[in-house]
Amino acid sequence: MILARWEPERLTPLLHSTNPPSGNLYVKSEHYHLSYGVMNTDTRRPDSHQVGVPRAFSGIQPTGTPHLGNYLGAIRNWVELQTSTDGVYCIVDLHALSVPREPGEIRRATLETAKDLIACGIDLDRSTLFVQSQVREHTELAWHLQCVAAFGELRRMTQFKDKSESNEFVSTALFTYPALQAADIVLYDTDIVPVGDDQRQHIEFTRDVTGRFNARFGTDGTDVLVMPELRIPPVAARVMDLQHPENKMSKSADSPQGTVLLTDSEAEVAKKLKRAVTDNDGEVRFDPETKPGVSNLLTILGAVTGRQTVDLADDYTQYGPLKADTAEALIELLRPIQKRRDELDDGAVTAMLTAGADKARAVAEPVMERVRAAVDLL
Ligand code: AMP
Ligand code: TRP
Repeated sequence: MILARWEPERLTPLLHSTNPPSGNLYVKSEHYHLSYGVMNTDTRRPDSHQVGVPRAFSGIQPTGTPHLGNYLGAIRNWVELQTSTDGVYCIVDLHALSVPREPGEIRRATLETAKDLIACGIDLDRSTLFVQSQVREHTELAWHLQCVAAFGELRRMTQFKDKSESNEFVSTALFTYPALQAADIVLYDTDIVPVGDDQRQHIEFTRDVTGRFNARFGTDGTDVLVMPELRIPPVAARVMDLQHPENKMSKSADSPQGTVLLTDSEAEVAKKLKRAVTDNDGEVRFDPETKPGVSNLLTILGAVTGRQTVDLADDYTQYGPLKADTAEALIELLRPIQKRRDELDDGAVTAMLTAGADKARAVAEPVMERVRAAVDLL
């Protein structure tokens, strides 16, 4: 019996899948059947969450004010997905501890990040927003996934390679980080993981260890864990630094003039855009290889206005007006977010996170029970 039909076209056009849907998802009373073959019909445990709605899960580290890359590559897609998915969004404070921190630093940053997400439009009536350390099952499941993760595959992770080169102290947690990320995801029977392009390799790793865990511990052809699918936006999946357009915009890069923060004032946005690095040939054209700075501006303006970069390029003959229009579009984008953020109260947000962790635990505990039963210890 078909109870409902998921219409991919109602998913935001900003999002696409690595396997673009060619058909529809039919929700049956027993399980899902996905005609483009991403989800294994047997893996789904409909009892563990809202039947009929795919689950989206994603995470963000509480390590400073989110920037435009976080917003366009991830957060705004989470907001859009709220109309078509059961969204579970996690502030991954344990991940943030994989590099040295002061006591209290991450506690404060967690609350700030929660406010940022709520101000961006994460609606706590529709989505679950919670803090990773408040749901203990994440670390327990991470151990089980480490037991099926190969040393060699973790060693190949580019985020580990980059961070271990730039940090003086390289913790074991930085190395095993992707196993905790995989646990975050599969603990919620997640169908889709909306993230920016830099997370592609971690989600592929998640899929690999999920398959290996199921092969080892599934019985009678029944999988223990749901296989998640990567979801990268077709535009702005990798927003580049305005000063160093060959690098991605990043919280950890020391490039304040190249990074637009969601809290930046109008004057700061205008200044950063005005000084954005371009090139000397003077032609407005979308060509990320040879014109990374100009292409990044076109990408940002396109992502904010919903217009195609090629069409936008036709509208401009000079860099100045392109920069000015991009700044104006960003100021308009940020204004309501900043207004909402100013209205949020610490106590109320802390209580919302506590309620979010209760909701998250209600999903995570039975999944963890399923894993414990499959591993079968005394
Ligand atoms: P992080 O701040 O590293 O926790 O990242 C949170 C989310 O933002 C992840 O889904 C990232 O893929 C995404 N993200 C981070 N930087 C960028 C960027 N420069 N462009 C697009 N997405 C990004
Ligand atoms: N590693 C991600 C980042 O640095 C954050 C993250 C942790 C995450 N757990 C996750 C993202 C689970 C998606 C799903 O951006």
